[in-house]
Amino acid sequence: MSTGDASDLTRAALELLETAGGTGSVAAVAWAPGRCTLVGEHVDYAGGQVLCVAVDLGIAAAVRRSGTARYLVASGETIVTRDDAGPAGDLGDRVLAPVVALRARGVSVPALEMGVAATLPAGAGLASSAALMVATATAILRLLGAGMTARNLAAVALSAERDVLGIPCGPLDQRAVIDAPDGGALLLDCATGGVESLIWPWPDAVLVGCDTGVHHDVGGQEYRRRREETESGLVALGATSCQELTGAAIDSGRVDPEVRRRLHHVMDETRRAVEAADAMRRADLGALGRLMSASHRSLRELHEVSTPALDAVVSAAETVPGCLGARMVGAGFGGAVVALVTRDGAVACRRAMAAACGGATFELRPSPGLAVLAPDVVRG
Ligand code: GLA
Repeated sequence: MSTGDASDLTRAALELLETAGGTGSVAAVAWAPGRCTLVGEHVDYAGGQVLCVAVDLGIAAAVRRSGTARYLVASGETIVTRDDAGPAGDLGDRVLAPVVALRARGVSVPALEMGVAATLPAGAGLASSAALMVATATAILRLLGAGMTARNLAAVALSAERDVLGIPCGPLDQRAVIDAPDGGALLLDCATGGVESLIWPWPDAVLVGCDTGVHHDVGGQEYRRRREETESGLVALGATSCQELTGAAIDSGRVDPEVRRRLHHVMDETRRAVEAADAMRRADLGALGRLMSASHRSLRELHEVSTPALDAVVSAAETVPGCLGARMVGAGFGGAVVALVTRDGAVACRRAMAAACGGATFELRPSPGLAVLAPDVVRG
């Protein structure tokens, strides 16, 4: 995204706030990008490695002190007013969750009025929830003139989702949204928390996304089940992360066939992510594409988180000349597909993907994370 687009979105958030709440005290704004996993899906909660980028679609938040001690949240057509920030079962829950998480870390946050605007599709597997938490938390910290380390900001955003909203997500999305480098990809080791930045070495290759527009796991129950199966398998095998697994240990372990499939997925997928990072270092575009397609097959057959619509979009993309590989992105059970394609093949690839599911398509450009975008807030 160009700075122009990001500032258009922050202006939209500000306008929503002023339309809903009238003129008030000066607002602080922040913009956070979404994330697109390249390879390494469903391994973050198993201590695996993930290769991902932050993208140029995102969420903007505008925040100001409430003049009345009541909270106000404006997002799209919806306006919510409240006496407190805790979950109440309405749209305000997600926007206000960072308020609760920041207070739990000792930050004194007053009653607020907030406007939120997005270019990132919700429920598409592109971390819109994490982008919302991070954008809102950053805008609040800006309003208070406060700063935080990248690690602490990621912890606040994760706690807002897990502890306040009860979503059982892993650490991937928050870290990607905050730590992604400018113009490259992030290799995140979820066992150690370590990161490595890699340059995007292909000016003539692009990532195109297609949102199927369908989300089957709205309550996150299937996601929770995959997570529990994987974690129980690791415990049964005495492993602390999927990076320690071997095929022999999985096959000789006393685990259900279902759990065995999950363990094979996380073992192979973390290795693929490491190989994909190596493909970027060698600028081997074909190798990255093949790893992306292999990732999709494993998510479909072993982790069983794909859908017929996602599979159809992946197959349609893969038949287009210039497409190097394609895969579902994010938690699955619906959402979007991302394809790696030469610039010359991008238009045909988008057309084929859209024809396969009737969904919207877009280009996803590797973009900087919050630590680059907001040095006034993310300190160290
Ligand atoms: C969701 C979760 C992440 C991660 C991905 C799958 O986006 O929030 O923690 O598990 O699914 O890789």
